Formats: sequence, structure tokens, C-alpha cells
Amino acid sequence: MNASVTSPSSARDRSQHRVSIVGAGKVGSTLAQRVAEKNLADVVLLDVVEGWPQGVALDLMQARGLEGHDRQILGTNDYADTAGSDLVVITAGRPRTPGMDRNDLIKTNAAIVVEAAKRSIEYSPEAIIIVVTNPLDVMAYVAWKGTQLPPHRVIGMAGVLDSARLQTFISLELGVSTQDVQAMVLGNHGQQMISLPRYCTVKGIPLPDWLDAESIDRLVDRTRNGGTEIVELMQRGGAYFAPASSIYTMVESILADRSRVVSAAAYLQGEYALEDLFLGVPCRLGRSGVEQIIELSLTEDECQAVIDAAASVRENIEAAQKILGWS
Ligand code: 2OP
Repeated sequence: MNASVTSPSSARDRSQHRVSIVGAGKVGSTLAQRVAEKNLADVVLLDVVEGWPQGVALDLMQARGLEGHDRQILGTNDYADTAGSDLVVITAGRPRTPGMDRNDLIKTNAAIVVEAAKRSIEYSPEAIIIVVTNPLDVMAYVAWKGTQLPPHRVIGMAGVLDSARLQTFISLELGVSTQDVQAMVLGNHGQQMISLPRYCTVKGIPLPDWLDAESIDRLVDRTRNGGTEIVELMQRGGAYFAPASSIYTMVESILADRSRVVSAAAYLQGEYALEDLFLGVPCRLGRSGVEQIIELSLTEDECQAVIDAAASVRENIEAAQKILGWS
């Protein structure tokens, strides 16, 4: 008996979530692997380089039987193939090279991110956008400004990564399981990032009860330079495994509507006494994107650190708007 195919394998089951990833570099490709192999959603991987996303997608597809999933993974150079995405992750743009600050990337990356956001929304008007490209807080802003989406549908990925780094450094310092460590890092994804030792715990016990101030400062400083440390070690490119895991955490909380509370760059409209900028704050992420921004009670020093971080982001947003011809 010939097995009959009732529907072409390429037909999309509308009940399946679809995540489009713009930028098939190491972060984008690793994220595609995580989303598919954790059986979370179908994946469209888009890049400007002809053939590259197609090759990465085919390679990932060829692992389906071994990895135990049947997710559709499509590589493409055409935004039309991203149509109907629930979520779009923008990783496109140039990464830092040794000696560069993330803000040095504004000139090259602002236009790339705006184009990626606009084209993606053209084909997936209901999608939520997660921005990863650096400088993160500024790129999240231009993606929002360029698309004029409701602010809760544009989110920057950085705080999850920075918090994961601090979480790891604390677990290594104390010799405890990383799973029992909670870390909180806010502010911008750069030198003004704000680790909050008061809100870092090991099994509910505040970090200051475990470590003296000097040790905490050392871990905070290593976290602040967490990305730079890897760029300096690798020399060509930078981190991609932990960034991909961080993005996945956000994607999963949104698609599975899990209401995770994470640090993410969100558009502030009065929270923390700030307006009209993206900054890393505690957020609850669910199916509609940023469903709540959580305002922590902060000390005077912590409030000042938030003000300083916001000032740095605002300065770079203004630079980006000039480069884009928006001001
Ligand atoms: C990092 O901190 C790529 O900005 C990212 O590694």
C-alpha cells in the first residue's frame, strides 16, 4: 500500500508558533538551534548573505531525527518568508572587535536594525520584536521608533544575559549550584549597567550575607565587563552561547505565556521617573510581550546609577537619531 500524503509537508500548521531570526551569525544560528531542538517553535532564519542562512537551516534540519523534533527550519534571504511570525529576533549588525565599546556600533547598526524591524513587521504585523543587536538599549529604541509598534511589543535582550553572568560568577565564588543563585542586573547593557547585590540571593539569602563588599565589587565588575572579557579572549566576534540562551528564555516566556520575571530593556513611560527611552528593568514577559514593568525600591545610590545609565542611553539615542536623519 502506498502511504498517501494528505497534506504537503511544507503546509504550515497554523497552531505552530513561528520565530523569525534576522541575522544568521553565531547568536542567530545558536538561537535557531535552541528554539528548534527544544521544540518550541518553527524557525525562519534570515540573512543578507546569499546561501548562508539556507545552509545553516539545512544543517539544523538534518539533525531533526537525532534531536527528536520535526520543527520546520527555513533559511532565506527574503523577508516574505518570515510572514506570520509570532516573534522576530533581530541579531543583525556588526559585533564588537577588541577595544571597541558597544556604542561604537551605532553608525553601522542603527540603519540595519531599523530596516530589519520595518521589513519584519511588514510581513508579520502582529509580531513581538526582541532586539539583540548592540548597542542594545539604543537599538531597541530605534526599532520601536522605526516601527511605531505599541511599546510592550518591542523588547531588548541584555539584562537576562548580564544577570546570568553575575549568577554564574556568584555560584563560582561561593561553590554553590548556579540554580540556587538569583541575580539582578538593570540599567544599560554597557559600562553603566547596575548590579543590585541587595536583590541577589542564594536560596533567598541576600548576597551581602554571603560575601564582603570587596568580593561583591569584584564580581560586579567582572559582570560589567562580561562581554568584553570574551571579545578580548576570542579576538574575532564575541559571546553567542549565553546570549542565545538568554534570548531563548525570553522567547519561551512569551510564546508559552509563562510570565517570567526577567531583566529586559523596556520602553519607559514614567517608570523609575524616566520617559521615552529603553532601559534594562525587571519585566514580566508573557504572550503580549512586556506585560508589567516592576519598579523596585532603590537606595539613593541605586537611583543615581539608574539616572546615570539613562543619561548615557539618551545621549546615544540622540546620536542614533542624527545618524538616521530623524533629528
Ligand atoms: C555580550 O555582552 C554580545 O553584548 C553581548 O556578550
